[in-house]
Amino acid sequence: MRVVSGIQPTGNLHLGNYLGAIRNWVRMQDSLSGGAQVAGGGSAQERGQCLFFLADLHAISMPHDPAELKRGTLEMAAALVACGIDPARSVLFNQAQVPAHAELQWLLGGTARMGWLNRMTQWKDKAGKNREGQSIALFTYPVLQAADVLLYQATHVPVGEDQKQHLELARDIAQKFNNDFGETFTLPEPIVPPEAARIMSLRDGNAKMSKSDASDMARINLADDADLIMQKVKKAKTDPEPLPSEMAGLEGRAEALNLVTIYAALAGETPDAVLSRFGGQGFGAFKPALGELLVETLAPISARFRALLGDHEALDAILARGAAQAREIGLPTLDATYRALGL
Ligand code: ADP
Ligand code: NA
Repeated sequence: MRVVSGIQPTGNLHLGNYLGAIRNWVRMQDSLSGGAQVAGGGSAQERGQCLFFLADLHAISMPHDPAELKRGTLEMAAALVACGIDPARSVLFNQAQVPAHAELQWLLGGTARMGWLNRMTQWKDKAGKNREGQSIALFTYPVLQAADVLLYQATHVPVGEDQKQHLELARDIAQKFNNDFGETFTLPEPIVPPEAARIMSLRDGNAKMSKSDASDMARINLADDADLIMQKVKKAKTDPEPLPSEMAGLEGRAEALNLVTIYAALAGETPDAVLSRFGGQGFGAFKPALGELLVETLAPISARFRALLGDHEALDAILARGAAQAREIGLPTLDATYRALGL
């Protein structure tokens, strides 16, 4: 089993990124490689391997700021390692350091059809009425995504609802290529990641917690220290009612629901289980408990995160080593693709 997954290299990482995305990767890695305690590579290789990449090549399909992209790439790499992606067990790298992604994308360009790409709903959504004004990278983005996974003979690719169509396209490209030029690529199967919590702003229970939220108090950043976390939880918007003893009682109480959702996600419990303990209590009791749970989970992550961000050499070394591993894994497939095409 070989799992390949990419993530956009954004900066200003927050609790939503952790609970909604990064934690799933860590769990995938741990389930494939037999948990964090496993030492040595032997058994990990038998069960499977994860390749995780920062999709920095994808980022240039939209208007972007180069300095910001660089910073976001390093920040996301630091966050992934801080949150538990272990470069000794998973291959962690950024696309730009593995030229085979861009090469294979071009090689697949003879196989991918305009009509297939024209049907991509993400393209239609992002381009809107102004197709002529879009970069061709935005249009061919799904071909790069196909290259991202086919390069490594991925057997499984985690895909959310919005990415299903792109994985189908990758399979169509692989199948047509195999038919036209001989068996070259593994057709990757989708794996549906466990449903991730959707974390809302601490200031508005109807808005997603986001790096673009104007107020720093509205989100818990991965770099926040314990005092700041406790302060943000204390100041989080709530209502005057005590907590109900089951979820149905949180209807219409978006802020309260959000805090319970965060608690449940951190504790690995259902929201109902949380409410069965805290039901009847006010936020004066619940907030300190939530704050402590947050600090307990995030303190080691944020310490590691800040240490890595302060040591770019270590971070660069992790990414360079990951890229070297990725190049080695991808090389036979890239060679085979050139040969199959008569190049
Ligand atoms: P932002 O919304 O802060 O701009 P991104 O769009 O860069 O964050 O998201 C990066 C990853 O983190 C995506 O997989 C996204 O689904 C996840 N994510 C971002 N915000 C949240 C949130 N509030 N709750 C759950 N997951 C989130
Ligand atoms: Na976003």
